[in-house]
Amino acid sequence: MHTETPLMPGPILTDDELASVRREYRAARLLPARTYHDPAILEWERDHILRADWVLVAREEDVAEPTSFVRIEVDGEDIIVVRGRDESIRAFYNVCQHRGTAVEERECGKAVRFQCPYHAWIYDLEGTLIRAKHTDDLEDFSFAEYSLRPIHVATWQGFVFLNLSADEPEPLEGHLGDLVDQLSRFDFRNLRSAKQIIYDVNANWKFIAENYSECYHCPGVHPQLNKLTPYDLGGDYDPHGAWQGGWMELVDGAETMALDGGHGSRHNRPPMCGVTSEDERRIYYYVLWPLAFLSIHPDYLLVHRLEPIAPDRTRVICDWLFEPETIGKPDFDPSEPVEFWDLTNRQDWHVCELQQRGTRSRTWVSGRYSNNEPSVQAFDLMVAARYAGEPFPSRPTVRDRFDTPVPKPLGDAGNGNGTANGNGHAAGKDRLGARAKASSGG
Ligand code: FES
Ligand SMILES: [Fe+2]
Repeated sequence: MHTETPLMPGPILTDDELASVRREYRAARLLPARTYHDPAILEWERDHILRADWVLVAREEDVAEPTSFVRIEVDGEDIIVVRGRDESIRAFYNVCQHRGTAVEERECGKAVRFQCPYHAWIYDLEGTLIRAKHTDDLEDFSFAEYSLRPIHVATWQGFVFLNLSADEPEPLEGHLGDLVDQLSRFDFRNLRSAKQIIYDVNANWKFIAENYSECYHCPGVHPQLNKLTPYDLGGDYDPHGAWQGGWMELVDGAETMALDGGHGSRHNRPPMCGVTSEDERRIYYYVLWPLAFLSIHPDYLLVHRLEPIAPDRTRVICDWLFEPETIGKPDFDPSEPVEFWDLTNRQDWHVCELQQRGTRSRTWVSGRYSNNEPSVQAFDLMVAARYAGEPFPSRPTVRDRFDTPVPKPLGDAGNGNGTANGNGHAAGKDRLGARAKASSGG
């Protein structure tokens, strides 16, 4: 019987399931429970997302010098990322083309060439096979064909992205879309990580991304964060590309996100390159599809990278990046921002793990978005687009977090929120301001 191979993967959800996620967000439903639990769905995601999309994997600083390399793991693959003598960054599967041995054993370092420890086949820094003894009389054999298998590499703002697809992918900048212009005022290329913490979270990678996408949970889960950036002060952007994001407003007197309350806590950490006076009052949050989050603070950049391990397990690598001049100061101390976000991260992992546990129940099918979660739907719509084998919609959702009139509590003529969260802001007024900026900001 003749079967046709489809160009794009077939839908992994039923038409009804896809349609209910894709409704206008006040009518939409969350992704079905099985997408967070079924090993077959994670396998499908590995094939059609993790091995098909650009994935942020490292910083250029990890291969700062020519001939320096780092070994990384993406989707279970052992990969060498190396900066050549020509300054170009390249990536290869760490697999000898003779009998498949891992060629490089060191985690990182400098390499003149890569020599397989087994039978000493040698590859240059461009991955080309340059020596393989006793192969001169083989039939149908050329060094060119037995070079290390290359991987697509691109860089942006000092980040290294890989695309494991065998075909030529869309250029990274096309994939990132208007995020490139939106963040062009910053220069993150020289930032350096002053601290890295790796977390093992017992939750599906999509639960973690959805959690990062909203601050509906902030008053209860993050009392410390909510004091600095009340959950209802901010806005969302209107993404055209593989991202979604928005910002939160810092309360008067707060200078950044740090454990001591952010009040005067920046000490000797001046704003990062490109930070405007408006940026100094905000924290920006971006999900870079599929596995990275960028949180832009006035004085540092926080980067989360997710590595899905199992349907219910994700490794999260968190880096705190600062300007090199800031790190170089004798009194540089990142502990306030590090401890603030370490606390916030753990608060998030806790609820994500509870969600993973609860959604295992046979009684759970899928839920509804509150009117405070259009960014969660924006993320889910990217998932739904990939599940459907379609490009991302150019305008995935209603991007205004606060465009719904907030019902007043009975007997309260004023706005209760401003006083309730103790920051002195008039919530209704600021929401309007945030909305006006949101529509012009993206
Ligand atoms: S397996 Fe690498 S040289 Fe033989
Ligand atoms: Fe959170």
